[in-house]
Amino acid sequence: MYCVRKVTEDLYWVGGNDRRLALFENIHPIPRGVSYNSYLLLDEKTVLFDTIDWSICRQFLENVQAVLNGRPLDYLVINHMEPDHGASIEEIILRYPDVKIISTEKSFLLMRQFGFKIDGRIEEVADGDTKSFGKHEVTFVAAPMVHWPEAMVTFDTTNGVLFSADAFGSFGALDGKLFNDEVNFERDWIDDARRYYTNIVGKYGTHVQALLKKAIGLDIKMICPLHGPVWRTDLGYFIDKYDKWSRYEPEEKAVMIVYASMYGNTESAATSLATKFVEKGIKNVVMYDVSSTHVSQLISETFRVSHVILASVTYNLGIYPPMHNYLMDMKALNLQKRTLAIIENGSWACKSGDLMGEFLYGMKEMTVIEEKVSLVSSMNENNVTDMDSLVESIIESMK
Ligand code: FEO
Repeated sequence: MYCVRKVTEDLYWVGGNDRRLALFENIHPIPRGVSYNSYLLLDEKTVLFDTIDWSICRQFLENVQAVLNGRPLDYLVINHMEPDHGASIEEIILRYPDVKIISTEKSFLLMRQFGFKIDGRIEEVADGDTKSFGKHEVTFVAAPMVHWPEAMVTFDTTNGVLFSADAFGSFGALDGKLFNDEVNFERDWIDDARRYYTNIVGKYGTHVQALLKKAIGLDIKMICPLHGPVWRTDLGYFIDKYDKWSRYEPEEKAVMIVYASMYGNTESAATSLATKFVEKGIKNVVMYDVSSTHVSQLISETFRVSHVILASVTYNLGIYPPMHNYLMDMKALNLQKRTLAIIENGSWACKSGDLMGEFLYGMKEMTVIEEKVSLVSSMNENNVTDMDSLVESIIESMK
């Protein structure tokens, strides 16, 4: 049975949700599922904006068929051809053999690499090109590396709808509610939106900034992303989040303690540290066990906060592997502009502090607090002064 939502008087959401996929990109846990959004415009020409993942293709085809209601499909605009969206392009071609595909040169190259049979039906567009579908005229805006090289966004100049590809997307399946004003975004969605952005697009902040600059010149009234809710109110709220994230600016002055503990001693020290912050009036403190928190969540939180304290045991004369993995991901995603501090622990040949420090000094615009706390197996009275000094330094740097 089809399941669609009306977006504007002649635009329909025809996507679907996958609640059975455990790992997005086979790496990021999505306990709340994910939506794959596709939009169908009924103008003088019929235009489908992007397709969906293979997993929900049957639902999608029913949706498209229902909204077309016997009309042919004239155009398929592909803003982003990554397989979580492009997987069903060939199925659309099979069902609607006269459809023309509009996309970028790079997108068609990638489609051919993936083996898609698209010859004879492509219309290549470049940044700034326009096209009329009847009442609606659209402008194609290149969005390279947000987050694939072929990506573009399409702006409908007639009604101000921006088809934003992965930009402004979020993890999380849609439970009937499509629009941002139908959900409590701040309560139920922002964490998944941040985790989606930071892990999927986070590395490409400069490219997102370039897209945001282009967007300033557009009179955007609605944002239709490929994942998550459609934005039709309070656009500034989400654009501001994207602006902060893509500039690698923290959302708030807050302390995040990430600890690696084998037998609970480093964890105990981390708790003692958190307590000291709270007693000093810094209440926005969070603690994460690096072993039991998925790295995508750690990355998301690291984008949110201003200050990060790494507390790690030494393992095989190196950094504890899950902590190392977190640091490598942080570096791979280009994370920067954070203030960090280090607590090391080791029963013999303690190395983790120096090694974490080396790692951080190799990253862009990271400030490492000089005071380092060294624990020998467990925290004791001898460490209290160093711990207090570290807390003071961090509080001072938060001013
Ligand atoms: Fe949702 Fe980059 O694909």
